[in-house]
Amino acid sequence: MIQALRRLWPGASPEAPAREAVAGAWDFHCHLLPAVDDGLRSLEETQRAIAGLRALGYRGAVLTPHIYPGVYNNTPDRLREAFRQLQQAVDDNFTLRLAAEYFADETLLADINREDVLYLELGSQKIVLVEFPTLMPTPAGMDVLLQLRRAGYQPVLAHVERYRYMQLEQALWLPRLERSGAWLQCDIGSLVGQYGPHPQAFARALLDQELPTLWGTDLHRVAQLERYVAPGLTVLAKSGHRINGILEELAA
Ligand SMILES: [Fe+2]
Repeated sequence: MIQALRRLWPGASPEAPAREAVAGAWDFHCHLLPAVDDGLRSLEETQRAIAGLRALGYRGAVLTPHIYPGVYNNTPDRLREAFRQLQQAVDDNFTLRLAAEYFADETLLADINREDVLYLELGSQKIVLVEFPTLMPTPAGMDVLLQLRRAGYQPVLAHVERYRYMQLEQALWLPRLERSGAWLQCDIGSLVGQYGPHPQAFARALLDQELPTLWGTDLHRVAQLERYVAPGLTVLAKSGHRINGILEELAA
């Protein structure tokens, strides 16, 4: 496996501790479905990304393409069709599952009412990944989390550490999020500064408090694996974390 890392990333020193944090886990939150959003742009890029994830020790990934009206006008049906095509093109040694990264807005509230939500079914859970705006909170945000719970879904809030207003008012937001029942997801690269110093500090504080239920690569480009994901996983391994075990528990 070390050789696989060297082949993928010549010149980089393979990060053995990174593999300890993964140890056969599934990634949760990535943009591997090719050419549907701002993520990977071709099947060839997706195949290279899967090889890189495998070299880091992942055995699968939950794909979460954007559904963001006006920006990425994806629909559950269109994404399911693109996912079917991808599954035919990659071998089954790497498990792929489909969900979505929904922007929390009025359209999603209407989708919840119409029971037209793309979710990941694992065991008894119907898991839905949701993102908030980065700079300013919107009224729809918390409402989406509450309505998802009410409708029987398990909401997951994407990259919590990147929301500016939460960084600034942690004492207000963290209890609010806990009351909502949403699981918190953080981006692994944030731990090593992929999004700058404020998300890095907040991600590390969340890690210290053991608040994130899930960690994601949020992969958009293959190069991010070497530059941010592997070093971020090393930080997780040093703090004794093995990521995303809950997905296997639910799937068992
Ligand atoms: Fe994302």
